[in-house]
Amino acid sequence: MSQDSQDGNRKLWGGRFSESTSALVERFSESVSFDQRLYRHDIRGSQAHARMLERVGVLANGEAQIIVDGLDAILADIEAGRFEWKTALEDVHMNIEARLTENIGELGKKLHTGRSRNDQVATDIRLYVRDAIDALVADMTRLADALLDLAEREADSIMPGFTHLQIAQPVTFGHHMLAWREQILRDRARFIDARRRTNILPLGSAALAGTVYPIDREYVAEQLGFDGVTENSLDAVSDRDFAIEFCAAASLTQVHLSRWSEELILWVTPMFGFIRLPDRYCTGSSIMPQKKNPDVPELIRGKSGRVIGDLQALLVLMKGQPLAYNRDNQEDKEPLFDAIDTVSACVRLYADMFPHIGVNRETCREAAFKGYSTATDLADYLVRKGLAFRDAHHVVGAAVGHAVEQGCDLSELPIDTLRGYSALIGEDVYAVLTVEGSVAARDHIGGTSPGQVRAAIARARAAG
Ligand code: ARG
Repeated sequence: MSQDSQDGNRKLWGGRFSESTSALVERFSESVSFDQRLYRHDIRGSQAHARMLERVGVLANGEAQIIVDGLDAILADIEAGRFEWKTALEDVHMNIEARLTENIGELGKKLHTGRSRNDQVATDIRLYVRDAIDALVADMTRLADALLDLAEREADSIMPGFTHLQIAQPVTFGHHMLAWREQILRDRARFIDARRRTNILPLGSAALAGTVYPIDREYVAEQLGFDGVTENSLDAVSDRDFAIEFCAAASLTQVHLSRWSEELILWVTPMFGFIRLPDRYCTGSSIMPQKKNPDVPELIRGKSGRVIGDLQALLVLMKGQPLAYNRDNQEDKEPLFDAIDTVSACVRLYADMFPHIGVNRETCREAAFKGYSTATDLADYLVRKGLAFRDAHHVVGAAVGHAVEQGCDLSELPIDTLRGYSALIGEDVYAVLTVEGSVAARDHIGGTSPGQVRAAIARARAAG
């Protein structure tokens, strides 16, 4: 037996060992410094397991309750900061189990009957990811709602729409917000879908092959709110695809938030001046007194790289592993927790910030007006008068070239000048050359007109 046997640091697996672990190996292989955050889920899982053991007769009547109470006391100690985590005890599971035995005596040693840390840790992480998804989905809903409100407020506001970051055609600000909302709704759906595969109970798989005890896995699943039990013990203890799916969904979410951030950052620069962000989401410069920097969007854009890196780490972690459990899997936690922390913080910040974005409507409209954004409308006008689209395109190109030379907008060219490019042009052309006319004309489902933006909002509200 190891020389640690006298103190509370005795290795729970130490029976066959004749010397204690090298200090370097202990530090290298411990996970308690980062997996202690699973304590609540670990305790819930153990309590459900103990109740099941009593129900099937492995524990005597009354024993499960003593274990459950002992674990509740440990939970209280941890939350009160009274629990001393010991590196020598390796991980969250053995820290809690050792303490239980210290507190309630020999009975504590029966808790681990019919299970292994392999199915225990798989259960803990699934519970943890499930909780993370539920909190995240709630914040994503808040963010989608904030975008809907903003779209409603700015349904009539006109801004330039861009392709190649060049002014393309006028759009409504509301339409732009609804585009972002579509993205976050798909992201949310990916998490909800991943949750279905996450919420399956691996406990009962034991180390890899199942256990000899007459366990009742459905009863454990029911207590813990799982939708079912895993079908194959080898798979259940070894795969972390649910964690990878979480990180994949988180990566896509971050990519979307990063794209929005890029636009927000452009829009607050004075050259654009489209929007205002509340001071509480910005910081100043230590040298340039005039600066107000959009740090929150910049950080969210920056943090997307971490989450994509976390996904990469988990994919590579998994790819070389034979069945079943390998200690490699201990490396799943830090990337997974980092992805959870990061995406949760980013979504939450934007859900809080979006209702307070101020739109400089005049500046947005001016920008749309300045960029010949209604040139396509002039071409479409000529098509309606009988010209083929390609010819119309050419005519309008020439007219734009002239307006650029004159330093004015198409709508500012006199009718005679415009008619010089095509005799089909009449006084009614000015109605289509306005930015308001341009957006109003795109009046079909998915189009940018204020009427369609309102209709989309109504459909979203009706869908709940
Ligand atoms: N800390 C370990 C992990 O995170 C727990 C499982 C250890 N299992 C084992 N057979 N050593 O994966």
